[in-house]
Parts: sequence; C-alpha cells; structure tokens
Amino acid sequence: MPRMSADANHRIRFKLNGRMVEADAEPRMLLTDFLRYNLAMTGTHVGCEHGVCGACTIEIDGVPARACLTLAVQADGADIRTIEGLAPAPGRLSVLQEAFRRHHALQCGFCTAGILLSLECYLRDNPSPDEATLRDYLGGHLCRCTGYVTIIAAALDAAERLRDANKDA
Ligand code: FES
Ligand code: FES
Repeated sequence: MPRMSADANHRIRFKLNGRMVEADAEPRMLLTDFLRYNLAMTGTHVGCEHGVCGACTIEIDGVPARACLTLAVQADGADIRTIEGLAPAPGRLSVLQEAFRRHHALQCGFCTAGILLSLECYLRDNPSPDEATLRDYLGGHLCRCTGYVTIIAAALDAAERLRDANKDA
C-alpha cells in the first residue's frame, strides 16, 4: 500500500462564517496562515504567534480559540467564526461591535478582532458580567493602546443591551 508523504497536502472541509469551505492544507500549516493566505480572510491578526497576545482569537465550535496554536488540518469538520462573520448582515454591526464604536473601544485596532470574538463567546455564556470578572477575562488579550477602560465599558454596555433584547424576545 503506498505510504503518504508527511508533506502531502490534506483536503479539509469546515464551516467558515456559515459557509462550507473545502481546500488543501499542508500538514504543518497554522490555521492563522491558512485563513489569511489561503482563504484571504485577513481580519484574523497575528501578533506573538505563541498563544500569548490573543490577537488571533477566533471561535471554533462555539468557544474562543487561538488560531496561532491550531493547525489548519485541525479545522477539518469544525464550525469556525472569524471577525468577518461577526456582523449580522452587510452594513450592520453586532451589538458588541456597536458598543465598541460608541465607547471608542479601539485605537489601532490590532487587538480588536480577537477581543470581539472572545467577548462574543463570553457574553453568550455570562450575560451579566461584572467589571472585575471582565478585567480578569481580558487578561488573555494584550491591548497596547486603550488601557482597557473603554473596552470594559463597551462590554458592559453590550451585555446590558443583549439582556434587554433577550427580555423583549
Ligand atoms: S498571535 Fe495568537 S495569541 Fe498571539
Ligand atoms: S487598540 Fe491597539 S492594540 Fe488594542
């Protein structure tokens, strides 16, 4: 039986922002590189490349994950959301994105995609966070610009609006 070379590409299929994607990936390719270079999804940023800064955070099967610590082949069969899939429709922003805009919760924006993805997951599971808990949670993301004050304000504001919306639903 022929043996597959360790360098042979693997065909992977996964859901990306609601649409099925099928493509070949080298076995050692990182998911960050695969998203950015093979699929031209450049909203996922790359900072430290070893799991510390949080810039590359995406959502995999409903939980935040570091794309720089994930191999592209591990995406096979997964349901993935990146920053490109956060807005509910073209020309509209999510409740959290709107809150970031209202509170000026970004400056250079390098950290923002990862923080938004993380907070979207977090607020889904923790609809009534307090400031201390949010600060602790955001310790997994490095932001060199904002001092986090406006990010926390935006997250608390979004949480309240999401709670109100769910009450009315
Ligand atoms: S680039 Fe992935 S955590 Fe920094
Ligand atoms: S807005 Fe610049 S690093 Fe966070």
